[in-house]
Amino acid sequence: MTLEKFPRERYEPAPDLLAGRVILVTGAGQGLGRAVALACAAHGATLALLGRKQEKLEATYDAICAANGPEPALVPLDLATAGGAELDALAALVRRDLKRLDGIVHCASHFAPLGPLADESLERWLETLRVNLAAPFALTRACLPLLNAAPAASVIFTGETHGVHPRAYWGGFAVAKAGLSTLAAIWADELEHAGKPRINVLVPGPIASPQRSRSHPGEDRSKLRTPEEAANAFLFLLGDEARGLSGRTFEL
Ligand SMILES: NC(=O)c1ccc[n+]([C@@H]2O[C@H](COP(=O)([O-])OP(=O)(O)OC[C@H]3O[C@@H](n4cnc5c(N)ncnc54)[C@H](OP(=O)(O)O)[C@@H]3O)[C@@H](O)[C@H]2O)c1
Repeated sequence: MTLEKFPRERYEPAPDLLAGRVILVTGAGQGLGRAVALACAAHGATLALLGRKQEKLEATYDAICAANGPEPALVPLDLATAGGAELDALAALVRRDLKRLDGIVHCASHFAPLGPLADESLERWLETLRVNLAAPFALTRACLPLLNAAPAASVIFTGETHGVHPRAYWGGFAVAKAGLSTLAAIWADELEHAGKPRINVLVPGPIASPQRSRSHPGEDRSKLRTPEEAANAFLFLLGDEARGLSGRTFEL
C-alpha cells in the first residue's frame, strides 16, 4: 500500500458542492464524524446520521437544522453487533426515505486501550476488527446498489497513522486500519471498469476529538487540527473534483 500526500494543499469547497446529494456518515454523533456531517450539510447534502447513541445523533440533527441544512435522517445502529440483515434493512431505509445515496463517510471507530499483543484477547480483537474493518466493508456492500445508481458516488474509509506506520501497542486497531487500505485498493480495482463508486482511505492525522483524548491523554489539544478543519478534505474526496481518484490512501 502506498500512502500519498493529500492532493490539495488548501481546499475551499464551493457552497453548493453537494447540493441534492445524499451522504451517509457513520460515527456522526461526535468528533470527526459530526464535523464531516455538518460540513456536508452546509454544502447542500442531505445526511443519514449513523451512530450508537440516539441522543448524540439528535444533537447533530439539531445543529444541522439550526444552520438551515436539509433535514437529516437518524440511523441509530451498533456496528459491533449489526448483522447482514440489519445492514440490508438500513440500505432499504435509505432508499425508501432518501431515495438515493451519493456517498458514505466511515468515521465510526472502536478504540480499545493500547497494549501489547500478548495481552490481547480474541474477543477484544474481534470487536475491534468488526467495528473498524468488517462493518465498513459490510455497510458499503449493502449500499452498493444505491451507490452504483448514483452518478458519481464516493466512499471514504477513515484510516489512522498507525495502520500505515505500525508501532508497538497499537494492536488490532492498527491492523484494522491497515486493512481498510487493502480493502479500498481491491474494491477500486474490481470497480475500475465502472469507474464508480470511488473508494478511498483518508488518514486525517491527529485531531482534537474525544477519541484523541483517550489515545493521548494529557496532550496539549490546542496544537491539534480541529475536526472542522479536517472535514474539508472529506468534502474534496466526496465532490466531483476528486473524479478519477479511487483505491488510494491519502494522508492529510
Ligand atoms: N482523533 C484523531 O486524532 C484521529 C486520528 C486519525 C484517525 N482518526 C479516525 O477518525 C475517525 C473518527 O475519530 P474520532 O476521533 O472522531 O472518534 P470518536 O470521537 O471516538 O468518535 C467515534 C464515533 O464512532 C462511533 N462508534 C463507536 N463504536 C460504534 C459502534 N459500535 N457502532 C456505531 N458507532 C460507533 C461513536 O458513536 P457513539 O458516540 O454514538 O457511541 C462516535 O460517534 C475514526 O475512524 C478514527 O480512527 C482519528
